[in-house]
This record gives sequence, C-alpha cells and structure tokens, in this order.
Amino acid sequence: MSLTAIIGGTGLTRLERLDIIRRETLATPYGAPSSALTFGRLAGRDFVFLARHGDPHTLPPHRINYRANVWALKQAGADAVIAAAAVGGIGERMGPGRLAVPHQLIDYTWGRAGTFFEDELDHVTHIDFTVPYSEDLRRKLITSARAAGLSIVDGGVYGCTQGPRLETAAEIARMERDGCDLVGMTGMPEAALARELDLPYAACAIVANWAAGKGEGEITMAEIERHLARGMADFVELLTRFAES
Ligand code: HPA
Repeated sequence: MSLTAIIGGTGLTRLERLDIIRRETLATPYGAPSSALTFGRLAGRDFVFLARHGDPHTLPPHRINYRANVWALKQAGADAVIAAAAVGGIGERMGPGRLAVPHQLIDYTWGRAGTFFEDELDHVTHIDFTVPYSEDLRRKLITSARAAGLSIVDGGVYGCTQGPRLETAAEIARMERDGCDLVGMTGMPEAALARELDLPYAACAIVANWAAGKGEGEITMAEIERHLARGMADFVELLTRFAES
C-alpha cells in the first residue's frame, strides 16, 4: 500500500480535505519533527501530512529540523514526498498566484544540518544529486494539475535562500544571472535529505509575490498571504487529482 507524504509550507498548515485516521508524534535520532504526523485518506489514497513550520506556524525556515522531518516521514512508511513551497517569482513566467514544478535547484543556505551521513560512518557517502527532483513524481504533479484545469509551469530553477528576511534586489539580480526562476527558503536541505533516504521528492512551488526588485515597491506580508491563499487552494485541487490517479 502506497503512502505519500505531503510537507505543507507557509499557507498550508493543515490539509482540510484529508479524512484523518490518526495523529502521531514521532521521535527521531535527530530530535522532534516540526509537527505531529497526520495520517489520513484523500480521494481513496493514503497520505501522511507534516506542517513544515509547525502547527501553529511558528518555526522560521532556518530553525526547521529538516532531518527530523524527513526521517520521521521515512519511518512512518512514506514512499514519496510532495513538498508545497511558497516562493517568490523571478522569471517572467512566474508571476504571483502561479504554480510551478521546479526541475533544478541551487542552494544558497548556510549552517543548516543538511545530511544524515556524518556521524559513526563506516565510509563516506556522497549521494548523486545531478537531478534533485524525482522526474516521475514531477510528471504526476504536472499531469494532475492539468487534469484539474490548472495552469502550471513545467520546470524552473529553485534558488533556496537562508531567510527569514526576504532578499535584496541585488541578490535577486544575482540569482537571476545564476539561472534561478524561483526563490524560496525551505527547499534545502529537505530535497537532499529525501534523496539520502531514497525517497522520491518533488516540489510544487506556489508563487506568493514577485521577488525583490521584480515588482513594484516593497513586498508585503499581506500580498504574500493573499496570493498564497489562492495558490494553496489550487495545490489542494492538484493533490485531489493526484490522489484519484
Ligand atoms: N523570497 C524567498 N522566499 C519566499 C519569497 C521570496 O520573495 N516569497 C515567498 N517565499
């Protein structure tokens, strides 16, 4: 029986459509995950949901225990991870409200515990990360979105910044020169940790705002929240189609 993990980001602390079966608070060798795991069914499929920033939403991106989160999902029996990720849009196709399924990433974070492979090792392990997202899972997300009548961008380079502050316009200009289309704060080390545990991982990015310097004036939390409310509702539609497929 397959069990798909959903990691909910900013704007998705609970998955209202899930018929909840049970909640479980797991301990891991890396400490406590951000929230209890919620197990349930949606459109006939089993899911386990984790609120990345905690429930209520209190953990900033650099304080999230990514290792505990990914470990707990693996321990719970998840065989794939779909991450919802609020992002800023850099590329011109990535305006507020847009959904996108990135195909590549660049990690600009620092100081985050980013590997399971560091203590009591028999040998040093370097995972392959050439293609950071599961192509199979990416295709399923894109097909599900289109079946739900949602427009979605297939691909994009996700740049992960440290946060919690938003970026400067110059930082975004540099990221654009680097080839980034989207900017978020939580995609790494999450994606790499999933790979270390052999968990297929893909992200659905929900564009909350134009990244710094790409839109008019300052970025406000009110703007972010407004676009996220709509984008996350679209993501839940996508997920329902995914469950039915
Ligand atoms: N930058 C980084 N992360 C984000 C942004 C942004 O502009 N918007 C939502 N998450």
